[in-house]
Amino acid sequence: MSHSFKIAPSILAADFTRLGEEVHRIEQAGADLIHFDVMDGHFVPNLSFGLPVLEAVRKITDLPLDVHLMIDNPERYLEEFVHAGANSISVHAEVCQQLPRIADRLHQLGVRAAVAINPETEPERVIEAASHLDMILVMSVHPGFGGQGFIEESTGKLRRVRQALQQRGLDLDVEVDGGIKVGNIRMVAEAGANVFVSGSGIFGQPDYNEIIRRMRAELTAVNAADKTV
Ligand code: DX5
Ligand code: ZN
Repeated sequence: MSHSFKIAPSILAADFTRLGEEVHRIEQAGADLIHFDVMDGHFVPNLSFGLPVLEAVRKITDLPLDVHLMIDNPERYLEEFVHAGANSISVHAEVCQQLPRIADRLHQLGVRAAVAINPETEPERVIEAASHLDMILVMSVHPGFGGQGFIEESTGKLRRVRQALQQRGLDLDVEVDGGIKVGNIRMVAEAGANVFVSGSGIFGQPDYNEIIRRMRAELTAVNAADKTV
């Protein structure tokens, strides 16, 4: 596998009363990205946070900010999220007609382009648009809430997505989001994911250094196994 593994803590699970400290703690613990979950109460039955919070986080970290837009009409807000500090933006395939056009727009704005798919969404349309994309985000829970259990069928979908990309000679990032913990990170990596969002799996732990170290140890085992194939 040629892509590097990236651990992306989701600050949806952070303690918002001391968000700055939480960001510094995951940064020091070796996070590769910060995953930022935006919810609008329409596309998903929940509200989270938006532009002012992203701007605030942007001011206190140099880590790439991986913005996951769980919102209707994401096209309306792309420019604002880029100006607020996003480095990559995921829009949901379920609410976007023209994926290549949105991806090209994101590139014009200077950020990485990603498309997310819900557990019940087939990946074909996204695969067709893959040459325009930097990343595909496979949801492994129903979007809207942190702390849910990993949907087992997601492993098969990750495998199909990675295989379809390989058949087309495309080396995109494949991100998995929902219910990722030390106990299943290796399994999803073996299925083809290389970017791992984890909310409660990291922020629910007392020692972020220790939990990220254990996640990386699991991933090292995947790398080692790859080399022997
Ligand atoms: C769910 C969000 C996830 C969530 C993951 O709607 O997209 O990013 O924060 O949280 P855990 O890891 O707790 O499932
Ligand atoms: Zn997310």
